[in-house]
Amino acid sequence: MRITIFGSGYVGLVTGACLADVGHDVLCVDVDADKIARLNEGEVPIYEPGLEALIRQNRAAGRLRFTTDAVEAVAFGLLQFIAVGTPSDEDGSADLRHVLKVAETIGRHMTQYRIIVDKSTVPVGTASKVERVIAAELDGRRLQLPFDVCSNPEFLKEGAAIEDFSRGSRIVVGTESERVRSAMRECYGPYNRNRDKLMFMGVRSAELTKYAANAMLATKISFINEIANLAERLGADIEEVRHGIGSDPRIGYHFIYPGCGYGGSCFPKDVKALAHTAEHVGHPAEMIAAVERVNARQKSRLFEMLCQAFHGQLTGRTIALWGLAFKPNTDDMREAPSRALMEALWEAGARVQAFDPEAADECRRLYGERDDLVLAGYRDEALEGADALVICTEWKAFRTVDFEALRATLREPVVVDGRNLFPPESVKAAGLAYYAIGRGDSVRPVLA
Ligand code: UDX
Repeated sequence: MRITIFGSGYVGLVTGACLADVGHDVLCVDVDADKIARLNEGEVPIYEPGLEALIRQNRAAGRLRFTTDAVEAVAFGLLQFIAVGTPSDEDGSADLRHVLKVAETIGRHMTQYRIIVDKSTVPVGTASKVERVIAAELDGRRLQLPFDVCSNPEFLKEGAAIEDFSRGSRIVVGTESERVRSAMRECYGPYNRNRDKLMFMGVRSAELTKYAANAMLATKISFINEIANLAERLGADIEEVRHGIGSDPRIGYHFIYPGCGYGGSCFPKDVKALAHTAEHVGHPAEMIAAVERVNARQKSRLFEMLCQAFHGQLTGRTIALWGLAFKPNTDDMREAPSRALMEALWEAGARVQAFDPEAADECRRLYGERDDLVLAGYRDEALEGADALVICTEWKAFRTVDFEALRATLREPVVVDGRNLFPPESVKAAGLAYYAIGRGDSVRPVLA
């Protein structure tokens, strides 16, 4: 099948490479000429395990190509995927500029029936907008060509995107058209052999499914973080409570790890956008808004714990920071809790010595050269001359620590762990104060 994909960002590249890998002919198109030139030289602009090899193999096999030529792109695929960015507007709503620009391009150049597939996460009602833009372009050209617009949201986790694409739990397609159903069956057939994962539904339901899934997951995280904060005040250990509740299959163990807040490119943006949509349709969604507020507060917890440990005196201190990425196995720092912490520390006059296995370049790109930031080349280099250690990301490399050696290196015996990586007893046995989320020395019962 011939498939065109607009947008060679994270979602577009993963979708393109995976669809080419199962035998489709894929043409990826992007307005960024520099990016396309790099891709044509075999350079992959993002870090995602397995993606570079997949792109290399499928380019070599001639099934995956990259271009900036929109005319060629529209002529190429029966399916025209839209996988461009939908950043947040100032008010939190999704900015559809890029999506509608692609719709315009398709309408301007199409000469035969096309199926437009909305892959980007877009607010409910976007498919209708895309349809209107294409119809207006065709009108302008005095053409009456048939076309369909469907919604096919992605559920890819960074760091596991290829696995998620190939073995995800469902493939959601919002459409009323039989022609679209049959084309999408053909497109996803190779991924749909063992079990029928295709779920056809209304366009608006598909659009809302994506937001509902992310909002539900973000709710689980904010919920457990709220309980962790309560545990701190009640003298309970959140890790024991987590086991206690997770054992109920109705609740389950997944996605209830307490931490220093969720980040990344999806949850923060999508939760905000859904809250905005809810306001817009006259049903202010109280839970969704609370999920976001709890997360914003959670991101300031690590700084608060440092203030507690140093009695508010952070000026001139050097803080070692392990983990800059918003989660392990990515170099992505979008909305990462590490950023809220670093920015608060700089504001308070402290220095940061950070180490991350992948995100150092991204950190340099975001913050540039500054006197109060040192990017260490290896984990324990970040500890040299530091007053305290803070952990923001649960990279595997941070899980094994010689606490005696750590105690000997740190100027003050303070460890703040935003991911609850260690048993409190083993940290404390080395004479270190251990502040974690809802456990360890953060737990100060105030009730009798
Ligand atoms: C997420 C969704 O999982 C995916 O389905 C959607 O398509 C895009 O958004 P991603 O942003 O890559 O994917 O990351 P994910 O692994 O889901 O983690 C999101 C954030 O939640 C991270 O900051 C992580 O640290 C945090 N998290 C996750 C917790 O704090 N506790 C948990 O129990 C799980």
